[in-house]
Amino acid sequence: MNYMSRTASLEIDGKKYEFPLVKGTENEYAIDIKTLRGVTNGITTIDPGYKNTGSCESAITFLNGEEGVLRYRGYAIEDLAEKADFLEVAYLLIFGELPTKEELEKFHTDIKAQSHVDEDVKKIIDGFPKSAHPMGVLSSLTSALVAFNPSSVNVDSEEEMYNAICRILGKFPVLTAWAYRKRAGLPLDYGDDSLGYVDNFLKMMFKKPSGEYTSNKVIVDALDKLLILHADHEQNCSTSTVRIVGSSQAGLFVSISAGINALWGPLHGGANQAVIEMLEAIKEDGGDTKKFMAKAKDKSDPFRLMGFGHRVYKNFDPRAKIIKKSADAVLEDLGVDDPVLDIAKGLEKEALEDQYFVDRRLYPNVDFYSGIIYRSLGIPVEMFTPMFALGRLPGWIAQWREMRLRKEPIGRPRQVYIGETYREFKPIGKR
Ligand code: ACO
Repeated sequence: MNYMSRTASLEIDGKKYEFPLVKGTENEYAIDIKTLRGVTNGITTIDPGYKNTGSCESAITFLNGEEGVLRYRGYAIEDLAEKADFLEVAYLLIFGELPTKEELEKFHTDIKAQSHVDEDVKKIIDGFPKSAHPMGVLSSLTSALVAFNPSSVNVDSEEEMYNAICRILGKFPVLTAWAYRKRAGLPLDYGDDSLGYVDNFLKMMFKKPSGEYTSNKVIVDALDKLLILHADHEQNCSTSTVRIVGSSQAGLFVSISAGINALWGPLHGGANQAVIEMLEAIKEDGGDTKKFMAKAKDKSDPFRLMGFGHRVYKNFDPRAKIIKKSADAVLEDLGVDDPVLDIAKGLEKEALEDQYFVDRRLYPNVDFYSGIIYRSLGIPVEMFTPMFALGRLPGWIAQWREMRLRKEPIGRPRQVYIGETYREFKPIGKR
């Protein structure tokens, strides 16, 4: 930790305590309270939702929500989305540097060599009802991979760590595509290793049994960008979950599986599905966006405008800016004319001008637009969050790896107990 000469003092019942300040490379300061419980005889802090609590030091992603800055390993998201491809960004996030041409080729070759999924996994998929949500299927299959690859990752062995990373990067797109194909009643197929990582994924998703798959550069580029934009976002809900599960020294695959479950919720990755469902509901209801704006502002109504607001971005979401452009290009290339998209545009305009949203600094987030792109590609809504998971995979891996290499302690928050105090046990006949 980079300790400062500055300290923070705390006074409790007239007694003063000093705590050091740590400083990050982007001049962020934090009060280091590691000794708090010890020196104060058991006093802790309480911070529901961890709005003020740093859980770790990390060198992977920097974001400044006030200024709309997002950087992976120091590189601006705008540059990466424009100039790099998803696998390059995955390498950067996980290993810390942009790969050379040779490093990238080797990385891709090693991932392809691990892209085979044991045929018996298909039997597990067969056990799921067709209606099963693909996020549940994906998290189960990711956990199940452990059974087929039982050696745990020894983090002191560079080779084991690297193999585990290539394995999950190779197999995860197959599992994602299979989760989709099972729902769509399509045969579970493998891809084509001569294609790029993203193009191959699209082929695995969309190749019909009787037809050829044709790559579309606009679509590959748009998906590449979307995956890059989702690739990491520092200590969000799913990433914190991956780190906390991994902190018990659980393996990479099961930690990722836990992250998938955390991502599923509508306040996190599930928002992209929720956005389209909300837009469809508005359309079904007659298309009156004003009515839904009023519902979103009504405190007695639990309805929220999905795809608006963000825990950390309070001026704009830089990812949303980039993806809005991509959404426009895809819609134009595909010549999509969709009334739901017109509702989206209307809602966006109204919300940006509405005082309630302006006062609370609620702007469209990346998921407002990602759902629009996925829908125009013909991807069913239930697959939106699995697509997010595919994008977030390198971030989860990078964060898990960092946590393990730094030998972080097991995650174990404290609480303030507010339940019953001691009660005498009553036998069942006397209750
Ligand atoms: N619609 C209407 N009101 C909202 C919305 C919304 N989408 N988001 C926040 N608000 C209001 C809250 O009611 C609250 O109002 P109040 O101050 O009058 O009580 C105020 O704005 C602050 O909201 P919080 O919930 O405290 O903000 P927080 O930072 O905790 O939540 C969150 C952020 C969860 C993203 C929230 O904005 C939300 O629920 N958005 C919709 C879901 C969504 O799009 N999630 C995707 C996030 S991006 C991602 O995960 C990749």
